[in-house]
Amino acid sequence: MKGIILAAGAGTRLHPASIPISKILLPVYDKPMIYYPLSTLIMGGIRDILVITNKEDDFKFRKLLGDGSQFGLKIDYLIQHVQRGISDAFLIAEDWIDGEDVVLILGDNIFYGQGLEETILSAMKNNEGATMFGYYVKDPERFGVVEFDENMNVLSLEEKPKNPKSNYAVVGLYFYNGDVCEYAKRLKPSDRGELEITDLNKIYMEEGKLRVKLFDESIEWKDAGTFDSLLDTGILIRDAKKNSGINVGCPEKIALEKGFVSKEDILKRIVKFKDNDYREYVEKLCN
Ligand code: DAU
Repeated sequence: MKGIILAAGAGTRLHPASIPISKILLPVYDKPMIYYPLSTLIMGGIRDILVITNKEDDFKFRKLLGDGSQFGLKIDYLIQHVQRGISDAFLIAEDWIDGEDVVLILGDNIFYGQGLEETILSAMKNNEGATMFGYYVKDPERFGVVEFDENMNVLSLEEKPKNPKSNYAVVGLYFYNGDVCEYAKRLKPSDRGELEITDLNKIYMEEGKLRVKLFDESIEWKDAGTFDSLLDTGILIRDAKKNSGINVGCPEKIALEKGFVSKEDILKRIVKFKDNDYREYVEKLCN
């Protein structure tokens, strides 16, 4: 399976902070936001990754992540020139996907917690059409909302509904089979002019090929796209490190656990970081 990180948005909700730099490169505690979705993909064992950026920030992402070899990955880049919606990722990336199964993660979606790895791996293994995840929230009107019955059959899907039919938001992590690019070509822009991810998932739903799984309470999900959630997420990551000693979203750590890179390789590359807590943490993992 291949993985796409969608990181091309204008990030207007975070202006002025995101005027000079993509929202997805803003720091969440001690590292750029993209480290978190990248770590989630590595957790799923995905090594072939595409980062979709906007034109202005493309070189900054390349400077940060390079070809991915420092994490034992292969990272490619493509540009979204016009913000046409999340499903546009599958039109931009059609040749890159090349008919394979693919996971899409939104650049501002941060996941962590016990059981995350098992949940991702089992969703990947059992995906036949599309798989998405529901997460209980108090303010579902801010998200895509999924309604389902007691057998987890999806009954409805709506994007930011005024009167949500459930409290389950659809998180920004989606698994698709090789049909996804063909389905994306059927989409028409919504009233707000975007190729909506919810409309793409609805095609799978109508074909009877959409599964929804729930994230249980041990998994935290943050959409870090607002001032408050950006700050709250940073504090949660800092507290997790303080309390459990685990640095969430550290790609070196997860790549090492997956056996994608050797300790020697990591140690060789981390020396270019100044002596700081991040370097110290990574060196400790290796020694
Ligand atoms: O966070 C989960 C939610 O993400 C879902 O519940 C919604 O169904 C889904 O539509 C999306 O809603 P948002 O309002 O949070 O989407 P936003 O416009 O903030 O875009 C999410 C990310 O995707 C963000 O990092 C920017 C990037 N993006 C977005 C669009 C529309 C692009 O790179 N290009 C785009 O054209």
